[in-house]
Amino acid sequence: MQIEFVSATSAASGPLARIVNLDALPADLDPVLAAGAKASRFSGKTGQCHDGFVAAGGAVQRVALIGAGDPAAKDRLANLERAGAAVTAKYLASGETALTIDFAGSGLDAAGAAAVLLGARLRAWRYDTYRTRLPEDQKRSLTTIRAANAPEGAEAAWAVEAALADGIEFTRELVTEPANIVYPESFVARAQERLAGTGVAIRVLDEAEMKALGMGALLGVAQGSVRPPRLLVMEWKGGPAGGKPTAFVGKGVTFDTGGISLKPAGGMEDMKWDMGGAGAVAGTMLALARRKAKANVIGVCGLVENMPDGNAQRPGDVVTSMSGQTIEVINTDAEGRLVLCDAITWTQKEFAPAAVIDLATLTGAMIISLGHEHAGIFSNDDDLAGKLVAAGTASGDKLWRFPLGPAYDKLIDSPIADMKNVGPREGGSITAAQFIQRYVDKGTPWAHLDIAGMVWASKPGATWDKGATGYGVRLLDRFVRDHLEG
Ligand code: BES
Ligand code: MN
Ligand code: ZN
Repeated sequence: MQIEFVSATSAASGPLARIVNLDALPADLDPVLAAGAKASRFSGKTGQCHDGFVAAGGAVQRVALIGAGDPAAKDRLANLERAGAAVTAKYLASGETALTIDFAGSGLDAAGAAAVLLGARLRAWRYDTYRTRLPEDQKRSLTTIRAANAPEGAEAAWAVEAALADGIEFTRELVTEPANIVYPESFVARAQERLAGTGVAIRVLDEAEMKALGMGALLGVAQGSVRPPRLLVMEWKGGPAGGKPTAFVGKGVTFDTGGISLKPAGGMEDMKWDMGGAGAVAGTMLALARRKAKANVIGVCGLVENMPDGNAQRPGDVVTSMSGQTIEVINTDAEGRLVLCDAITWTQKEFAPAAVIDLATLTGAMIISLGHEHAGIFSNDDDLAGKLVAAGTASGDKLWRFPLGPAYDKLIDSPIADMKNVGPREGGSITAAQFIQRYVDKGTPWAHLDIAGMVWASKPGATWDKGATGYGVRLLDRFVRDHLEG
């Protein structure tokens, strides 16, 4: 979606949209349009959209009224995003190719206008690459949104949000692609392509290098697949020279069959998005670089495919992780933690980061606990957890904190190795987090975000269509803005 700033509205260029607050139809509204809006119960509630027409100088002008809700609402910016999203959802496949949002008289400031545009752009994203026979009337037609009479500073505010949208769209693309297209090597290739010229430095560890480093846990997962694993490392140094970086580490299981502990067939296709944590990390790096964030951030993606095979690891196998700790692999479907533990060990050794934040579609149990409204956060540090939860609330990528503790930790003790990779069924998301915590260095603030319920949506949401949501990018970007910059 192309977003342009124009100085004035012009006729014959598609619908003209106006932002309308709750119960406040503009006084200068065409009386026929106003009557039509009232008759169809348009009241300016957030997300409402009235599609009408007015006679203008002998021609007919299509006009959209977009409900923005109560101007004093404390989640005003989120409402403005929903308003922008509602209008693009309405016209996306309408046949209209361009839409002009007229901010004159809207009362919005620069941040408000940028929020409308962000919602509009995010809701417009869809991935039709593989649809070669879409009927004409279902094809996306809307390609341009013009912002007319935008408030002072809106263009600069939008430049920042546009960087965020770039990151979210990249994440959605990675998550949407099927596993025959996006696998460890091609994930890396796409990141290299997309991050080229942004100033993000990329390093890639291949199988031989990981073997030499002793990453037996990650490699044990990968060994059943013909697709070789990769560790993708992205460095953004926008902060003070020599400042300790903050590390984001993503689970990038490009397909999770469960391995020899094979998953049931029904719904297994969902496991193409078991790389959603890695996708969020890659998208965040793009957003941070595009807006030149003044922070030092490392993104690390542990990329593997989990397959059953003659060479796959077996339940009961004991593997040695890079940390030296040994793991009895009770269930090959609890593979995400095996990937993360080596990725986290390597990240700590390499960078001695100020904090480690990992993101993973780690457990089905997380979805049972929180559904699709919050991701779970587990942390050894109240300050870090508080900042992330606040960033979640502010950005709309919400988090809810879960407990950790020795009583949970001992549930993953093994009779043969240092630990086993699964605990009992109860508290499955917590024992998964306890497993990861065993790899976090003493004194390193760490948070684990279990985003299993958030990466993929079965129905449209505030600023996304059904499918990949891009969860995590806004959260991490907000955390960086509020706590690592300035
Ligand atoms: N990738 C899955 C978790 C998952 C399930 C994410 C459904 C999103 C939707 C993970 O690798 C997994 O299989 N976890 C197991 C752990 C169990 C074997 C301890 C699970 O949740 O069932
Ligand atoms: Mn699994
Ligand atoms: Zn998995």
